[in-house]
Amino acid sequence: MSQITKICCIGAGYVGGPTMAMIAKKCPHIKVTVVDLNEQRIAAWNDPDVENIPVYEPGLSEVVAEARGRNLFFSTDVDAAIDEAEMVFISVNTPTKTYGAGKGQAADLKWIELCARQIARVSKDNKIIVEKSTLPVRTASAIKDILMHTGNGSQFQILSNPEFLAEGTAVEDLDAPDRVLIGGDSTAEGQTAIQALVDVYANWIPRERILTTNVWSSELSKLTANAFLAQRVSSINSLTELCEKTEADINEVARAIGTDSRIGPKFLKASVGFGGSCFQKDILNLVYIARTYGLQEVADYWEQVIIMNDHQKKRFANQMIRELYNTVNGKKISFLGWAFKKDTNDTRESAAIYVADHLLHEQAQIMVYDPKVLEGQIYFDLDYLGTRTSEENKKGVSVINDPYEACKGAHAIAVLTEWDEFKDYDWQKIYDSMLKPAKIFDGRNLLDANKLRSIGFIVQSIGTKS
Ligand code: UDX
Ligand code: ADP
Repeated sequence: MSQITKICCIGAGYVGGPTMAMIAKKCPHIKVTVVDLNEQRIAAWNDPDVENIPVYEPGLSEVVAEARGRNLFFSTDVDAAIDEAEMVFISVNTPTKTYGAGKGQAADLKWIELCARQIARVSKDNKIIVEKSTLPVRTASAIKDILMHTGNGSQFQILSNPEFLAEGTAVEDLDAPDRVLIGGDSTAEGQTAIQALVDVYANWIPRERILTTNVWSSELSKLTANAFLAQRVSSINSLTELCEKTEADINEVARAIGTDSRIGPKFLKASVGFGGSCFQKDILNLVYIARTYGLQEVADYWEQVIIMNDHQKKRFANQMIRELYNTVNGKKISFLGWAFKKDTNDTRESAAIYVADHLLHEQAQIMVYDPKVLEGQIYFDLDYLGTRTSEENKKGVSVINDPYEACKGAHAIAVLTEWDEFKDYDWQKIYDSMLKPAKIFDGRNLLDANKLRSIGFIVQSIGTKS
């Protein structure tokens, strides 16, 4: 295939939107059309006020503003965009299955299959199909099967090109990634397809950072990269409990081990638990695949990363209850942060959801403040758990868009996201407005505990003795 001039991306979410915006910015000669079934989402991407795009990421609105209308388009006309493109990215969601075989572990490939069938039906010429969504190993072969047997004779090459961007730093990560990974067939056609995609990325990424592998290696590498990162967080979190019982301080331990160049300093920040759409889903997927092949020890090994993460969230909530004299019934608890990490409005699998759920069981009154997450999303997250009715969630949780108001009259504050702005608050003012003894449970080790203690707060930072 000669140079790519038209790209279609199915799925305008946290991955598809930013990735395509960056490709469009860096490759003005390529027309990039991002399509989605969700009309509201597409309308938001097309909002004349670029600050209203549906994904909040530092620097993203500038990238969209530069390319939108020039060579970047957002549309609900999926068929037309597939038809005209030489290369189609599949960037739809692959949540963990909530029913049937593999429930709670395997990825639900319903949306992927629908996409493949749609591509097969619409295509009139040969195309390169690129898996962007994180998928179980061997999904490419399923996609290929559908494309080859339900289409009208067009030829397809399937590439795996997993996205490694992290939310909150998506623009930086896309602009200068550690590496780009492209997996494809070893046949001549496969190699030509790989080259076509390499050429797209080579517009701004040094060639030596573009790795090419076979499809299976690429698919498995994505699951494994996330499993390794999550494992580091669970490993450091597993030590927080021990630190809280002894004189060891988790920050000091993390620094001491992280300076060993073999270990490295990243992903050693203790927290109330990792969240996000990828870590849990990908590990569950890895566990499921291992079990499918009868690899019990391998499955159990990785499953422990999730077990530790669940334990951490529950432990944090239980500790709050214990420190609030074993009852939070009717007590006002303020949550600072709801997003799964700072600099994103994404809340998928956020620890805050599970901590809130636990406290609501104990009849607490929760007041939430998050700088970027909208009220409707917070109620959606709680309703989605299905633990209690929507009315009960509304009764138990109030969303307040001023942090000082959210903390007024509270028995305790829980810091659940590491938003920078929390550090700059007037903590004396917050202290004065709270019930005494005023307690802070810092699930992110974000705030200066000594400073807070000098004001009068009782502080429990995760991983240090209070
Ligand atoms: C992750 C991977 O980093 C990325 O490469 C992949 O493409 C998608 O999944 P993301 O989920 O956006 O990205 O965020 P990440 O920065 O990895 O953080 C995941 C969770 O771990 C967050 O809840 C974060 O707060 C938590 N975390 C991370 C810690 O608790 N401590 C750390 O040291 C690092
Ligand atoms: P991710 O974090 O992987 O980007 P999101 O849930 O943010 O996941 O985005 C996936 C998007 O894919 C959603 O906006 C969803 O509406 C869209 N989508 C799912 N299936 C299809 C489909 N068959 N055609 C078009 N869009 C789809």
